[in-house]
Amino acid sequence: MVFEIQEQVDLTPYNSFGVSQMAAYFADIQDPADLPQAREFAASKRLSVLVLGQGSNTLFINDYPGLVLYMNNRGREILPGAGMLRAAAGENWHELVMFCLQNSLYGIENLALIPGTVGAAPIQNIGAYGVELDQFFVELEAFDLKTGEIRHMSKADCEFAYRDSLFKQDPGQKLVVLSVTLQLAVEPVLELGYAGLKEALLGQEATPQRVFDAVCAIRSSKLPDPKRIGNAGSFFKNPVVSRAKLLSLRESYPELPAWDTGDADLVKLPAAWLLDQKGWKGKQRGGAAVHEDHALVLVNRGNASGEDVVLLAQDMSSSILQGFGIALQTEVRIV
Ligand code: EPU
Repeated sequence: MVFEIQEQVDLTPYNSFGVSQMAAYFADIQDPADLPQAREFAASKRLSVLVLGQGSNTLFINDYPGLVLYMNNRGREILPGAGMLRAAAGENWHELVMFCLQNSLYGIENLALIPGTVGAAPIQNIGAYGVELDQFFVELEAFDLKTGEIRHMSKADCEFAYRDSLFKQDPGQKLVVLSVTLQLAVEPVLELGYAGLKEALLGQEATPQRVFDAVCAIRSSKLPDPKRIGNAGSFFKNPVVSRAKLLSLRESYPELPAWDTGDADLVKLPAAWLLDQKGWKGKQRGGAAVHEDHALVLVNRGNASGEDVVLLAQDMSSSILQGFGIALQTEVRIV
């Protein structure tokens, strides 16, 4: 296909909230060899550049005045070296998880059904049910929009943390992920620590396939399918607070759950639980609403604008600040 840059493209199909905003310029990148040309185009018009996968963690609140690079390159390759695999940025993440299972490559079953692409996975270091991407990450290839060069970045270079990486910080915005290399296990490794997962497998021998099936069942039972109801998964991160803060909160809320963080003084709290205490499930503002079954998920009930979603999110975080003295941070990227 001849590479072209389109003008005035409606982004509705390119963001899982399904909000309608326009991109001034839009390039469907099926071949990374076209990136230098896209970079020159942006430089010649002094445009900002936004990299998009399947838009499952992005909320547009305005038209985008620059160039959107829609990363749509494909390819999955099992590399020499036991358990090594490389996948192109435009591959669908869940399809990669299934591909791994079919090829007896184990470890990422717990990350089944996470919406989005392979290229987006390292941006927020995707995680679920006790597993995070960085546990399997070896390196990635990225196109540097500043210099026009291809860079190979190791795990240390990427600065992974809970739902965070270098790519979410400012210098990271200039890097376009092209492919990701993972080291998977060739023998099953099962992570069953998450409450609900072990219970789902009670009475049967745990296998990677059964963990995969259980994760899909749990997710489908409480998270809305973005193909049917616009959403971007968890809207906020789970907040990390001091243990002293937890003890003081438990005086009023003895049931408040908390997880260890690896740092003895800090604990992670479920934002969904806090929001649920304040009655947010099902609340609506314009076309935006809080999901009926999960207080951390904001959904598009119909014609929500990005602004409806953000205003609802602001009210939610104000109520958590007032009620618990905790400032929630958004997980979703707001553009
Ligand atoms: N809870 C409530 N009310 C609710 C929902 C949940 O009280 O409406 C309670 C649950 O009972 C549980 C706790 O809150 O005690 C945590 O809920 P859940 O297990 O559903 O997980 P979460 O902390 O809300 C995180 C990730 C999810 C991931 C799940 C499973 C973040 C921000 N979110 O959600 O990731 O799938 O754990 O591991 O870390 C995402 O990032 O988009 C995402 C969906």
